[in-house]
Formats: sequence, structure tokens, C-alpha cells
Amino acid sequence: MQECVKTKSITRLIVLLLIVCQYGVYSRVVFGAGTSSIVESKSAGLSRQQSLVPSARQVLNFNRGWKFARGSQPGAEMPEFDDSAWHAVHVPHDWAISGPFNPGENGYAGKLPWKGVGWYRKRFELDNTDSNRRVYFDFDGVMAFPKVYINGQLAGRWDYGYMSFRVDATEYVNFGRTNVIAVSVDTRQQGTRWYPGAGIYRKVTMTLCEPVHVAHWGTFVTTPEVSDSSATVRVRSNIENHLDSDSQISVEVMLLDPNGRTIATIKQDNTAPPSGSCELLQSFVIANPQRWDIAGPKLYTARTIVSIGDKVVDSEITHFGIRTFRFTADDGFYLNGRRIQLYGVNLHHDHGPLGAAFYTRAMERQLEIMRDMGVNAIRTSHNPPSPELLDLCDRMGFVVWDECFDKWDDKAGRIRGEPPLEEYGEKQIRNLVLRDRNHPCVVIWSIGNEIGNQPYDKEGKSPERVKYMGDFVRKYDPTRPVAISCHIPGTADQPILDSLDLTGWNYARRYFRYRQRYPNKPIIYSESASTLSTRGFYELPLPNEKTQFSAQLQVDSYDLNSAAWSDIPDVEFQLMEDDGFVAGEFVWTGFDYIGEPTPFANEARSSYFGVVDLCGIPKDRFYLYRSYWRPDATTVHILPHWNWPERVGKNVPVFVYTNGDSAELFLNGKSLGRRVKGQLPEKPVNFAQGKPASAGSVELNNSHVTENANDADRSTRWCAASKDTGQWWQVDLGETRSVRYLAIEFEKEAKSYGYEIKISTDESNWQTIVTKSTSRYPRWGGPNQTFHDVDIQARYVRIEFTELREGTWASIRELGVYPEKVESSYYEVTYKYRLRWNDVVYEPGELRAVAYKNGSRIGQAVMRTSGKSAAIRLTPDRKELNATGEDLCYILVEAVDNKGTLCSLANNLIRFHIEGPAEMAGVGNGNPLSLEPFQADSRKLFYGKAMLILRTQEKRSGQVRVTAESDGLPDVRVTLKCSR
Ligand code: GAL
Repeated sequence: MQECVKTKSITRLIVLLLIVCQYGVYSRVVFGAGTSSIVESKSAGLSRQQSLVPSARQVLNFNRGWKFARGSQPGAEMPEFDDSAWHAVHVPHDWAISGPFNPGENGYAGKLPWKGVGWYRKRFELDNTDSNRRVYFDFDGVMAFPKVYINGQLAGRWDYGYMSFRVDATEYVNFGRTNVIAVSVDTRQQGTRWYPGAGIYRKVTMTLCEPVHVAHWGTFVTTPEVSDSSATVRVRSNIENHLDSDSQISVEVMLLDPNGRTIATIKQDNTAPPSGSCELLQSFVIANPQRWDIAGPKLYTARTIVSIGDKVVDSEITHFGIRTFRFTADDGFYLNGRRIQLYGVNLHHDHGPLGAAFYTRAMERQLEIMRDMGVNAIRTSHNPPSPELLDLCDRMGFVVWDECFDKWDDKAGRIRGEPPLEEYGEKQIRNLVLRDRNHPCVVIWSIGNEIGNQPYDKEGKSPERVKYMGDFVRKYDPTRPVAISCHIPGTADQPILDSLDLTGWNYARRYFRYRQRYPNKPIIYSESASTLSTRGFYELPLPNEKTQFSAQLQVDSYDLNSAAWSDIPDVEFQLMEDDGFVAGEFVWTGFDYIGEPTPFANEARSSYFGVVDLCGIPKDRFYLYRSYWRPDATTVHILPHWNWPERVGKNVPVFVYTNGDSAELFLNGKSLGRRVKGQLPEKPVNFAQGKPASAGSVELNNSHVTENANDADRSTRWCAASKDTGQWWQVDLGETRSVRYLAIEFEKEAKSYGYEIKISTDESNWQTIVTKSTSRYPRWGGPNQTFHDVDIQARYVRIEFTELREGTWASIRELGVYPEKVESSYYEVTYKYRLRWNDVVYEPGELRAVAYKNGSRIGQAVMRTSGKSAAIRLTPDRKELNATGEDLCYILVEAVDNKGTLCSLANNLIRFHIEGPAEMAGVGNGNPLSLEPFQADSRKLFYGKAMLILRTQEKRSGQVRVTAESDGLPDVRVTLKCSR
């Protein structure tokens, strides 16, 4: 109360009396105008405040000094167990990332040895003087099913590998003696669709505190009323009393503004019952709140101090933000009253060569790269993130879709449906929401991803189950919307989603039915794109269908390929422009991740989905997103590379990604013309367009008439009168033509139609030139067009439908009959967002693109043919590192010619030597097929590049010298500084 008395004497501060405690305790609330001069006279800011409050609680980093062994270890939980032969490891630790890869295994989980049992042990001392204190271990993530033994006794266990949990070790520890903690881990029952990692892969802390203390995750800060002039801040504290008598406590909550100045304090008394807890609610009104926003993430602090008499027994700091947001049904997302289009990415939990092991710096770097691209929203697909991810998003200004589960079957970490979803769901949701609810970045709770529907899916969604899960969330946090991600449009026909506040939909505008059924509910495009590419890899000719993939098991980086069920970025840009009611998209995915290597599921070990590769090196797509999401930042990017010795005199298309509206391209100084966004190239004549057509039947009542199939309008179609096979559509080209290419665009995916194409010059003698059957594949989606390279003379072209998949009627949107190959109309939209020179004839030298916006030159990019590799170039992301043992340096390794031009085809093996206080944390090169180990001191370049990741050593400072050598190239060295 001392603070209050002083503050009262200042005229610009107002004192309020407020009723706030649900136990009927009255307390005095002080709120300040927040001006610096006044507050400064009261305190020197956060650091002085900290020194004023003795910390009765000790939170100790428990990451160092573990021993580890794989396989079952009978008796390893016992203190006397001999672990001298075990490996010394530090947490975060992922035992599987060092490999070896199993080439014979399907790539869904990265071909790495993550499945199995592992044991960790660590000795620790506790002082006799602490013998009255509580001892807790907090694990942020253990993959999976950990059992925690203290001195031989089972002290706690958990199941879900992505969830943080606490073990109360108080009754198992010895004070004044050595203790042994042993953790067994078992991933054998872990269901997964990607690489989960294995072991204690996130941080561990040991907390010592007095028997009366703030409960774990026991502080909840909300800001129920916010305006420009004031904000109500409510701090709810749950205080535990582990004594067997009542404790008269007083709880003081101080609010500190974003500059660390105390702006208000409330002290409240209460009684904590024996072996129980009590709750206090302190409510503040603060003036002129500074908003947390993605454009300026201001963070306030609530400091909770628990005292008994004069003695401070516990203190805790909670950062929070003051912001308003809402999701609307018709106009997307509003943050602090501004409509914000969500430019989101999905991120999986692994960090490439580091595996699942979580390092704050690795995460920070991911977010820095994403922010440079224009990202403002992260979806933690499909599981609870490490808590530091949310700290970073709070600090850096991203909004977060915080997700609990992928599926509700064993992918959610449950074994064969046990424990029941209701029990398991509440337990995980409780921890997730209690842990994360104070983060201003979190704006959505998600109870799951792509869950099937009952009764078809036994562990699937039903209205009751969805409500159960949503209600658990609301029980712990009623202030944020509860969502789910869906992939089955028909879900909207049942009341399954009724109880949710908003729904995310994955791919292909699958939200359209939901939008019709629920016009008053907000929608997010929770997964978009799923475009595929390999950094640095280009193959010609260009694909003409999104699922036309290279035989080399890499995916062309011209950004024209996607998974069958999904689309290229441009299609999604257009969709978001058309459907302004959607809050925005979350691209699948920001980074490549280990596992799920669609479309080469058997051969590869990591994904092709990322906008940047597994090491964080941007793919071309990065610049496409940047050019669109950051219209005011200059982006001029040329693709492909310009080393095509085998194509001299042949065609190599050139694309430019720019925020400009046009650009001029020069090859060796000669202009190849200017391209303007939105201008389509001329197409060869379609012999069929507007020509007399006939059909076996016509669905007249819907006006799907015959001529719709050759009217050059893709939005109209011809449809037969029934779903019977044997239907046909025919065109008369007017005269016999030399035809080289046929393109048919269907109403649905082309896999649903089986047909024959017949031609004739006289309408009586017919020749069958194409026979195509239906297919069940791809299982989801697929292109809507088919193309046929032909070499025919024809006047009449007829398509006869021989097979139709269930629910499909014979129908054609557009038939093209061409004298030469034509680009698929699917790609028309690319001309709106990219600049394309399709007909460039390759000659080595220099390509230069000069970009313009509104008539002014905004920048240029140059791409040169490189000579032979002459040097290795090392580019560290930072040169000054912290000797924490967990700081990282990412060093980009490239081969360049004697003029410094990147050798974009180089694949030299590079060896690394490290001297000084740092160690190898991982190596990689972004090649999804590579089975070279991630933990090694050498790496082959992949399309000219690789990444070396160093980790500092705890408390060891000094210079780190990294030398890279490669046969035939001079050694190169870079020096870094490590400080304590
Ligand atoms: C989605 C799924 C994601 C990922 C993605 C790949 O349907 O939710 O986890 O598998 O497909 O395109």
C-alpha cells in the first residue's frame, strides 16, 4: 500500500475504490495517466521494481547435464543404476534426428528412427535450507508418453507429446542429498502424419517455491473493455496453499506499462485454505492504453506478489497486451478496429536439421524470415507450440491460431481410442489454454484439424463432441473464438459445427457450402496453396497441369505445381480478393518440414510444400508472396537460374516476381520487351470456338446448352440431360484442319470422366484417337483439364463419355482444338501476379529485369550465367553470439565463380572445421531426397547452397573460427564472437 500512498499525492493520478474480489474483499485501485515524468518519480522502472521484490520463487533451467540411452533399460529409474555408459546430452534433445535414415521406409515421417524407447537420467542436489519448499518440474514437450521417476518412484506421467505438463516432485525429493530424475519415453504408439521427433525436445525447468504460491498457470489477465482513452485490465490469480493450516495472504498486483514503469497497484487480502487454493480478482482501469498490434506489439506486465505478513512468499510476472479484435462474417478480421487481411502460414514444429529440438533462436529466425515475406499470422499446425513461439509472436507482432490436435484418433496421441476423447481432450485443452491464454498474439483456439465425421469416422466429429471440446476451451478462456479446421464440405449439411465461433477450411474453396449454410459465421482459409517446389530445381518444358511432376523426384521451381487437392499461390490470391468475407489465408506451409513428402511419398524424406526450404533458404515462391503481401516493399526477383548449357538456342521461360506492375527484361543488354501484370499472352486460335456444335442430349432446364462448351467462357458449360454414359458432344470445325493439341476443361476433376475422342473429315468415317478411363486417383482433387498431344487432320471432333464416376454427369466447360500446344487455362491467373516471358531463347550471359510501378522505376534484378566454381562463400546470419549453450548461428554456404556469381548447379562436398567455443548443431541443403546425415561435419551443396548451423557453448566466450574446405577450392574462414 506504500506505493498507493505515494501515488495519491500526485494530482494527475486518480484513486478509485473498486469492488473486485469474488470473495467480497474490497481493494483500492490506483490508475495512472501513464505519463513518464510522474511515473519516473515513483520508480526507476522494471529493473528497480525487480530488485525491490525478493524472488521467493526460483525457476532453474534444467536442460544441462542429462545422460541418455536408447532402448529399454531395466532398473534405470533407480538412483543407483549405472548410467556411466550412457551418452551425455543436453536438452532440447531429439534422439532421432542424427539418423541414420532408412531408405526403405516410406517418407511420411522422415525415414528417421524416431520410433522406440529412450531413457534420460540426471543427478541434482537440493539444499537442506530448501526443505520446506515445493519442487516442480515443468516439461514443455516430451515425445512421447513420458514417465518421470524421482529417486526410483513414479512421480508423474504424460501422454500427448506436444503438450507442456508439470510434475510435482516435492514428496519424492531428498533435501541435502543427491537426487536422480529419470524419464522414460516411448514413441512406439505415437500416431503421426509427419516427423514427430523423439525425446525431451523442449526445455525443462525446475521450480522451487514456498508452500504458498501462485498456482501453475494460475494468473489470467483479460482486458474486457478497451477504448482509446482507457482499458479495464482484470488480473485473476489462483493462489495455492500447500500447508495444513489457513494462510492469511495478501496479493499485490502491479501493472507496468510497455516502458517498464509502474502505472497501478492493487493489494488485496485473502485466506488460502489448508491444502487448497483461493482466487482473487483485481481490476484496473488504465488511461490511454498503448495497443498491442501487429504493427507495434506493445506489451504490458502484471507483477503478482504474494505475501504472508511482511514476508514475500512468491512473485510472478505475466506479460499481456491490450488489443481488441473480432472476426466478422462478412468482412474478415479486425484488429484494434482496423481490417487486417491475414497473410498466414502454417508451421510444423520441427526445425529441419535440428529436428524437433526447440531452440528459441531457430524459431525467432523462422519468424524473421516469415515476416520479411509479409506474414502476419501463424497457425501452429497441428499441435500446441513451444511456449517461446508465442513469446516471440507477442514480441514481434504476429497473430496466432493456436491448435490443439490433428485429428481426434491416434494422431492426437491417443492409443486405440483410449482414454476416451472427452477425458483426454479436456486434459490437453486445459493445459493448452491455461498455458497460452495470456498471450495477446493468440486470437483463435483450434480444437483440431481435418477430423472426419461420425458415424463414418469412429473417432470423428459429431455435434456433441464438437460442443464438448469447445466448451472445455471456453471453461478456461471465454474471451477468444473457438475454431476447427475442416476439409469435408458436406460437414456443413449437418449441425456438426453449430457450436463453434468460426471455422477454418482447407483448400479449393471448400468453404462455399458452409458459407451458404452459415452466412453469419466467420471463415478463415486455414490451409491454402500446398504448392510444391524444390529450391533451385527447374525442368523444361513447363508443366501444363498442376500435378504433372518431374521424373527426377524433384518439383519444378517455376511454381506451377501443387498437390492434387490444392492450388498454386496465384489461384489463392485471386480467391481471397473475390471472397472478401474470408479473414485471410494460411499457406501450407511457410517452411519445409520433415516428413509428408508429397508427391514423392516413398522416395523423399521431407516436404516440398515450404515457401522456404528445410534450412530456411527462400525458394522462388518466397518472392511471389512478398511481392503480393508487401506491395510497398521493393521486390524484384528473376527465375530461373541462367546456367543452361544444354539449351543454347532453345526456349527457357523467364518469370519475374515483383511488387511493381510491369517490368522490362533484357538479355545481354537486348530488350525482350516489357510485360504488364494482367496482360494475357496471345493464344493460338481455337479451331472449335464458336463453331456449330451438337450433342446427344442437353440439360435444358439449367441452360447448360451445347454451345457453352465452345463459347470461350469457362464459367459456362454444356451438360447432358442425364447421368447416363454414352452421351456425346461434337463440333464441326468448318473445314479439315491440322490439329496438334486438344484441351478439355471439365466441370469436375478430370479423373471423374472416361471418354473417347473421335475424329472425322466427313462425319461418316470416324477414327478413335484417344481413350481415357476414369480413375480413383488422386484421392482428393486433381486437375479439371486434360490435354492430348495429337497429330491429326480433322473437321469433326467428338467426345463420347464411356464412363462416369458416381455423381458425375457428362459435361464440358470448354473444348480447345489447336494447331499447337497451348498453356492450360488454369495458369491464366498467373499473369495477374507474375510477369512472364515465355518465349526467351537461351543464350548465356546476363538477364536483367527493371521493374516499374505507376510509371516509376522501382528497382532491378540481375541473373548471370556463372563460370566454374572458384570459391566458397560463407554468410553467417549473425556474427555476435551469446554463450548460453542454446544460441545458434546459421551460416549460408555457397559456391561462387571468380566474379562472385552463385554457381547455381554446384554440388561440391564441403567440409567444416570449427575452432573455439561453439559446436556443430546441424547441416542441411534443402534437398528433400538427400539421405546424408543432418548431424555431420560435411555437406554437399544442393543447387549451389547448403546451411551450417552452429550452437554456442554455455558460459564459454571467445572467438569461433569456422573453416570450410572443398576439393579444388581454396579454404575459406569466417570468424564469430561469442560473449557471455
Ligand atoms: C492438409 C492437412 C495438412 C497437410 C496438407 C498437405 O489436408 O491438413 O496437415 O497434410 O494437407 O497438403
